[in-house]
Amino acid sequence: MTVNLTEKFKDNIVCKGLGITYPIIQGGMIWVSGSKLAATCSESGILGTIGAGSMTPEVLKEHILKAQKLTSKPIAVNIPLLYSRCQEQIEICLEHGVKTIITSAGSPKKFTTLIKNAGPKVLHVTSNPLLAKKCEDAGVDMVIAEGFEAGGHNGRDELTTMVLIPQVRKAVSIPVIAAGGIGSGQSIMAALCLGADGVQIGSLFAAAVESSAHDQFKKKITEAGYDSTRLMLKNLVPVRLLENNFSKKVALLEQNGASEAELKELLGKGRSKLGMFDGNMEEGELEIGQIACSIDRVSRVSEIVGTLLSELGSSLMRL
Ligand SMILES: Cc1cc2nc3c(=O)[nH]c(=O)nc-3n(C[C@H](O)[C@H](O)[C@H](O)COP(=O)(O)O)c2cc1C
Repeated sequence: MTVNLTEKFKDNIVCKGLGITYPIIQGGMIWVSGSKLAATCSESGILGTIGAGSMTPEVLKEHILKAQKLTSKPIAVNIPLLYSRCQEQIEICLEHGVKTIITSAGSPKKFTTLIKNAGPKVLHVTSNPLLAKKCEDAGVDMVIAEGFEAGGHNGRDELTTMVLIPQVRKAVSIPVIAAGGIGSGQSIMAALCLGADGVQIGSLFAAAVESSAHDQFKKKITEAGYDSTRLMLKNLVPVRLLENNFSKKVALLEQNGASEAELKELLGKGRSKLGMFDGNMEEGELEIGQIACSIDRVSRVSEIVGTLLSELGSSLMRL
């Protein structure tokens, strides 16, 4: 006997709200999730997301148009609110019929009403239950609760997904999407058991064939061990990084009590592009989650999603 997941998730609140078949979102990722990755993910029945954080509004427009040519299914755009041109990025999304905007790294109060009045759904990324409640109060449609196992920028709270999800579930009545450390159907099942209505996955898709990450970065992800990443730059902008020369320099500065100015000087400009997009494995910034240790090869999106669904089906049967 097998589980019919399409049927199972027919009435799932995330699937219905976002127009997708399975309650899985491919997380927006700077330098990694362009039109190709987002469109391929959407074609596979989950929600593909363009990561606007590394794009000018003009480049974002190109990616939205390209993705819309590749798929007629919904795609989302992730907009970190710490970038100076985020309002222009939002306007581009509204002009081009994007139905879901995922905001992060800023206050949900800032743009939620503006976006919702224009039609799209707003999802906001949060790292603790208090902020999740603020998202709900600001009118956000769904909250993405991200544990500190996750790749990319992170909350200072260091709450793991296992602890965070039940807390956020209690704090809000809007749909909750779990993120951070999810790398298998079994962990999707665990997140659903903890009270989440869906999941967001980043690292697994960063290493996909269709991601725009540099091949050297994808290779390094597949070589990561259980202790290869660290949450760093906690006093500046907390971010989970793969170990390399750059991260060792950050660690040394932090150990010696470096000031914000010294850390900013080391970070300089363009570190994340240098690492993740240009492929400088030693001096670039390499953002990835703890779950990288379970990624052992570069696979196509269709294979990644197929495996997640088949594992989820087996877990449902087993339990
Ligand atoms: C390379 C990389 C870049 C990321 N960039 C962003 C970003 O621009 N905006 C954002 O909200 N989250 C970003 N994230 C977080 C993801 O959207 C997602 O929430 C996270 O990866 C989930 O945890 P996981 O990596 O354990 O799957 C990034 C993650 C990675 C790995």
